[in-house]
Amino acid sequence: MEKTFMMVKPDGVQRQLIGKIISRFESKGLHLVGAKLMQIPVGLAEQHYGEHNGKPFFGELVDFITSGPVFAMVWEGENVIEISRTMMGKTKPAEALPGTIRGDYGLFVGKNIIHGSDSPESAEREINLFFNQEELVEYDKDIHNWIY
Ligand code: TYD
Ligand code: MG
Repeated sequence: MEKTFMMVKPDGVQRQLIGKIISRFESKGLHLVGAKLMQIPVGLAEQHYGEHNGKPFFGELVDFITSGPVFAMVWEGENVIEISRTMMGKTKPAEALPGTIRGDYGLFVGKNIIHGSDSPESAEREINLFFNQEELVEYDKDIHNWIY
């Protein structure tokens, strides 16, 4: 089953949106397989956002993502990567449609509430950056067979 990495960014944690965000993905039928509230060290932030190193917003992005606790999560489900990106909405809140997380809660591109992996490669890379295998659960498919 496909997995993805997502995190509620420091603005979402400060605005107490963790529960609302988890609720959206649960209601969709996706399964939470790992989660933790954590403070990201600068080195991890630079690795996580490595693809943006050198861009004008990189410094501010690293400062912001390390400015307070984030809520890191791994979610599982059919097409979870594409579905979660659709539910997050576009990067720029002005382009994110109402009904999406960024469209409903975000106002600034630099503070857009949530991160989510954008491809199978980035999902695998980001899950491994933030979680050990022992921190992820596996659901018993005989018990949880009413969704999948
Ligand atoms: P990106 O990976 O392009 O977006 P997404 O989060 O949708 O995958 O960019 C990573 C983050 O960098 C983005 O969520 C917010 C920040 N950012 C800026 O601050 N300014 C920008 O112009 C862009 C493109 C991103
Ligand atoms: Mg991205």
